Amino acid sequence: MENNEDLILRVEKISKSFKDVHAVDDLSFHIRKGEIYGLLGPNGAGKTTTIKLILGLLEPEAGDISVLGLHPQKDELELKAKIGYVSEEPLIYKSLTPKELFNFIASIRKLEGESATSKLAQYLESLSAVEYYERLISTLSRGNKQKIQIIAAILHDPEILILDEPLTGLDAKSVKVVKEILELHTKRGGAVLFSTHIMEIAEDICDRIGIINQGKMVAEGTMETLKHKVSAMDEDMDLEDIFLRLTEQDNSINEIVEKLRKTMNS
Ligand SMILES: Nc1ncnc2c1ncn2[C@@H]1O[C@H](COP(=O)(O)OP(=O)(O)OP(=O)(O)O)[C@@H](O)[C@H]1O
Ligand SMILES: [Mg+2]
Repeated sequence: MENNEDLILRVEKISKSFKDVHAVDDLSFHIRKGEIYGLLGPNGAGKTTTIKLILGLLEPEAGDISVLGLHPQKDELELKAKIGYVSEEPLIYKSLTPKELFNFIASIRKLEGESATSKLAQYLESLSAVEYYERLISTLSRGNKQKIQIIAAILHDPEILILDEPLTGLDAKSVKVVKEILELHTKRGGAVLFSTHIMEIAEDICDRIGIINQGKMVAEGTMETLKHKVSAMDEDMDLEDIFLRLTEQDNSINEIVEKLRKTMNS
């Protein structure tokens, strides 16, 4: 019998369609305490929809989701305190400064005292965000908005971080820092679910990876398992090769490039 005590997230055969598009199709996976789980898939594969279902922002037509033993929609308020979420879109609180946003978060999450203040100061410093702390969020660059969103998601020490392409738009140093933050978060017993298109990062920090295509899980496991799955072909495959192979995009790239060459040279 499997030990379910450490289970943080359980997604069981969920489906969600938009008219005739099967955005998520009979998808199952789980995440345990201390794990970093990476969701990979081409554009339109269903990553954001899956994340929104887990957060209770959408309702599945079929299947079950349990986050820390709770139901995403029925236990929405209780879960909000336990989840940190970074959305795909940049921050929406455009008429606030980061300082006002963090004060607002501190008041709704009841984060007070010196430890919360020093934690915030440390996050701001580590992501080089101190200098625009009091500027309007609407005036910040895309990457800097993203950093503020990441800090806002971790400030209340959630048990699970759910991040939809958290590294998009970040500079190299910030990617490193965020990577460190995710690893430290799991070392203290948290869990991370994130979607990404950056293969090196997924290969580097994920304990397990789920590759989805057209709403379905096409392969799942550690880097080792994934390599094994396609190992009949090539020993030296990195995650990018595995990903393209499993989502059946590897051959089409050559064809596309060939056609483009003809079009653009004519
Ligand atoms: N609100 C919606 N209405 C209609 N179709 C939608 C809606 N949201 C998502 N879809 C469709 O569902 C499919 C999955 O979209 P989703 O945003 O989950 O993909 P994704 O894997 O996050 O892609 P990306 O890498 O581009 O962010 C796509 O075909 C998309 O067009
Ligand atoms: Mg998406």
